[in-house]
Amino acid sequence: MRIGVLTSGGDCPGLNAVIRSVVHRAVDAHGDEVIGFLDGWRGLLDGDHLELDLDAVSGILARGGTILGSSRVRPEDLRDGVERAKGHLRDLGLDAVIPIGGEGTLKAARLLSDNGLPIVGVPKTIDNDIAVTDVTFGFDTAVGVATDALDRLKTTAESHQRVLIVEVMGRHTGWIALHSGMAAGAHAIVVPERPFDIKELTERVGARFEAGKRFAIVVVAEGAKPAPGTMDFAEGGKDIYGHERFAGIANLLAVELERRLGKEARPVILGHVQRGGTPTAYDRVLATRFGWHAVEAVHRGEFGRMTALRGTDIVTVPLAEAVASLKTVPEERYAEAPTVL
Ligand code: F6P
Repeated sequence: MRIGVLTSGGDCPGLNAVIRSVVHRAVDAHGDEVIGFLDGWRGLLDGDHLELDLDAVSGILARGGTILGSSRVRPEDLRDGVERAKGHLRDLGLDAVIPIGGEGTLKAARLLSDNGLPIVGVPKTIDNDIAVTDVTFGFDTAVGVATDALDRLKTTAESHQRVLIVEVMGRHTGWIALHSGMAAGAHAIVVPERPFDIKELTERVGARFEAGKRFAIVVVAEGAKPAPGTMDFAEGGKDIYGHERFAGIANLLAVELERRLGKEARPVILGHVQRGGTPTAYDRVLATRFGWHAVEAVHRGEFGRMTALRGTDIVTVPLAEAVASLKTVPEERYAEAPTVL
């Protein structure tokens, strides 16, 4: 068989581990040939690719980023490019494509699959918000980076008797905020799933100082928003891909908390540092397992599906199910983390 692989959307620690695993399983176990499309869907639309043999993936398991490059693509470009993509698949003699990506990539994968392309997806995102898989690789690494940052920020916050508002990634869901906040013992956690009341947050942080504590750490997911009518909020705009961009929730909260509490407050935006660098062992293993199972699914002809973690098993699920909704933090998780607002 000849298999194409690509990485699309925001990058994520573990992408290289999947690429390596696909090549190892396909070449070693099945005698397949593998090619990698460059810069995500763009490579498929332009036929821009390189051959991936065992040498090409040697030494990349622990490397962050993606050796294939990534990009975001507008849905309309992909819709218009279906015939072009099919043409490249024919010309390159490909039997299957394995796109590795998050919500946007998997929606694009479904579109191509519905149009007859043989696709097996692999989910990735540090945000952990893909439905129907228990976990995505990259999440464990991102939570580790954020937790380490929170631990470090505690000491400087205490020296200066400050409130530090630490913004973590999570456009739609609060998984990174919840897990890093729990791991580091943050004093308040603000997530997109629960619009917050600034008065409640102020009281929560204020009570800590009244109890004699010298500092406070607030973790906020980038997509967190105030409850309607509770606070003026500068709405984000939409970027060129149609994604909502928020206007710096940590900056806003730092200004508000400082004004309301009369305590120094500083915003810290962790940003893309959460996506960079070497994946944790957990993410390397999950990524490697996804790659292995994606190749097996190709050989079984299970197209239009995606690998997923269910408990400790890797299964495949229909792409349609995977993109139907996002996996938000379930209500029962908040009971275990009383510092969530
Ligand atoms: O989808 C993962 C993610 O990390 C989001 O949490 C974040 O909003 C986004 O990517 C940022 O992406 P970009 O690389 O386009 O700035």
